[in-house]
Amino acid sequence: MWKVTLGEKPGVSQLKREKTTVPRPAVGEVLVKVKAVSLNYRDWEVINGQYHEVFSSGMVPLSDGAGEVVEVGEGVDRWQPGDRVIGSFWQGWLAGDLKNAIAPRSMGGPLDGMLSEFVSLPANGLVLCPSHLSYEQAACLPCAAVTAWQALVVEGHVKAGDWVLVQGTGGVSLFALQFAKLHGASVVLLSSSEDKLARARELGADITLNYLECPDWGAEVQLRTGGIDHVVEVGGPNTLVQSFKALRLGGQVNIIGYLGGKCGEVSPLLILQSHSRVRGIAVGPCSSLEALCGAIQAVQLIPVIDRIFSVDNLGEAFDYLASGSHMGKVVLRLDS
Ligand SMILES: NC(=O)c1ccc[n+]([C@@H]2O[C@H](COP(=O)([O-])OP(=O)(O)OC[C@H]3O[C@@H](n4cnc5c(N)ncnc54)[C@H](OP(=O)(O)O)[C@@H]3O)[C@@H](O)[C@H]2O)c1
Repeated sequence: MWKVTLGEKPGVSQLKREKTTVPRPAVGEVLVKVKAVSLNYRDWEVINGQYHEVFSSGMVPLSDGAGEVVEVGEGVDRWQPGDRVIGSFWQGWLAGDLKNAIAPRSMGGPLDGMLSEFVSLPANGLVLCPSHLSYEQAACLPCAAVTAWQALVVEGHVKAGDWVLVQGTGGVSLFALQFAKLHGASVVLLSSSEDKLARARELGADITLNYLECPDWGAEVQLRTGGIDHVVEVGGPNTLVQSFKALRLGGQVNIIGYLGGKCGEVSPLLILQSHSRVRGIAVGPCSSLEALCGAIQAVQLIPVIDRIFSVDNLGEAFDYLASGSHMGKVVLRLDS
């Protein structure tokens, strides 16, 4: 079998594809033949040494993947060969709130990730694939979809009649759009591209705005909606001030990403005067992946995939992700 590992120096070109032996599932583990993986902005940061933690060479990158169970270890009765499964982003965070005592670890750093022909994972760190999804579609769920679900559904209790603001058209944002619509909420979506805005309207976005043409979008959104209930904040300091301007009194801001940079100034008065609830989101537990799989199975929701690359074109796929041209997810198919 092969696996791809981080090199001594950062960079996609430094990744190494190595031949190794197929692992045997330990007690309580399940051996999975990985069929597809999806790329996240975090994976790009990890590989390029720009993540807030640096991981050593030899680690297998990429948190998200789906595949087929080929063998189960001793003591596993929940899975059997042939089952189609998805790996949870966090291993060890099964359900409930994240607590210090749980100390979960994430796939693709520090734990070995999914860019490997086979992986052996704990039986309780896997979720059954919705039957209507291909492996490529299922591989989109562990990080981006769980993050959007955790922010809006588990923590935010989004409901019909709410207004949700999503920024950009990347993986997290489009899942947030789909989950908000699933719960009867209305959505404001921001993008830098007119073409992407048009496609977002087809996906159900109620109000679309070009954040480059309308830099003071917070006031415009406030005017047109009467105030946003849930912000899915992926821009960071560049967008946070506008998000508070868009918020209704007592609205919620989910701090998720920092695409516009990690440092900046935000006055505490913005939080205080908006009576807002600001919370950090760090993906979510295995139970959230399970819950969203149940929901999307029920309504036959399909994740938005922009492009599928062969694993042999890994570099091209990461260049495409870094270009920001994509809308939704970028996926790698592992059977080559
Ligand atoms: N905390 C967590 O649990 C968690 C989980 C997943 C991701 N994240 C973070 O969330 C962010 C998004 O991740 P992703 O995987 O969805 O990324 P992605 O798929 O790469 O999304 C990129 C898109 O974001 C939009 N964008 C870029 N810069 C922007 C800016 N300054 N303001 C507003 N929008 C901007 C662009 O959309 P347009 O082309 O439409 O303009 C771009 O295409 C990243 O910072 C990632 O690290 C955090």
